[in-house]
Amino acid sequence: MPLTPTGDIVRTAVSANQGVGAFNVIQLEHAEAIVTGAEAAGCPVVLQLSENAVRYHGGLAPVGAAVLAVARAAAVPVAVHLDHATMPELVEEAVGLGFTSVMFDASVLEYEENVRATAEVVARCHAADVWVEAELGEVGGKDGVHAPGARTEPGEAAAFVAATGVDALAVAVGTSHAMTTRDAELDFDLIAELRAAVPVPLVLHGSSGVADEHLTLAVERGMTKINIATHLNQVFTDAVRRSLAENGDLVDTRRYLGPGRAATAAEVARLLPVLNASVLAV
Ligand code: G3H
Ligand code: ZN
Repeated sequence: MPLTPTGDIVRTAVSANQGVGAFNVIQLEHAEAIVTGAEAAGCPVVLQLSENAVRYHGGLAPVGAAVLAVARAAAVPVAVHLDHATMPELVEEAVGLGFTSVMFDASVLEYEENVRATAEVVARCHAADVWVEAELGEVGGKDGVHAPGARTEPGEAAAFVAATGVDALAVAVGTSHAMTTRDAELDFDLIAELRAAVPVPLVLHGSSGVADEHLTLAVERGMTKINIATHLNQVFTDAVRRSLAENGDLVDTRRYLGPGRAATAAEVARLLPVLNASVLAV
């Protein structure tokens, strides 16, 4: 199965009223685990590299090439996405490497400036057939600058999409980045209002803080791309911690990263159907 355009994966999900799991990669083992989990579930998936993860690796090219190679070898459709990019140069580099989509995050800027910068990135990415996600109404939790009370206003969201030409919009509906408990209170009525007002797919960031049944309901109300990072890191690290605790003499990194990778793959296989289930009420 070739590397698949993000737009194709998301469009198919929208027409089937389903969600798309978008999971963040830091180590190569994350990418391997996410694809193994998606193959087990028989679902397409998005591998995401954030600007912060790129900074950790000291550059995009080596880690980006590795993630793209994992995607190209997958047995299910896999897209590769640059997440929370604030630097247009990094977007350009991702496009050049073959990433299928980018999130350009100018959400800390004033509205007019966010529109101008985003529209410029959209024009350049569309010229290369690359799908663009942007954000309006900063999702809380990053660096403590915003509370989970941040909300995207539907009229402003529709105007932003019209003014920028973005392909998908990340909206603030009650989640907060990097939660380690799954008890975020989503504003389901706002999700439905945004779905009705905004003509492009909606993206839920900070989904680690959302319980399974609320993820299902969020998709049912109109969210499509579901971004999950911290939760998988928790699963990975718990398994590593267990391995190290059980055998204090471990030296070979494969002996503890391997169990982390296996646990992460199992959790991805469990979570993907949660995004495609149907519920009647919370
Ligand atoms: O862009 C990625 C995310 O929004 C993931 O957030 O770490 O809270 O799941 P999370
Ligand atoms: Zn995010």
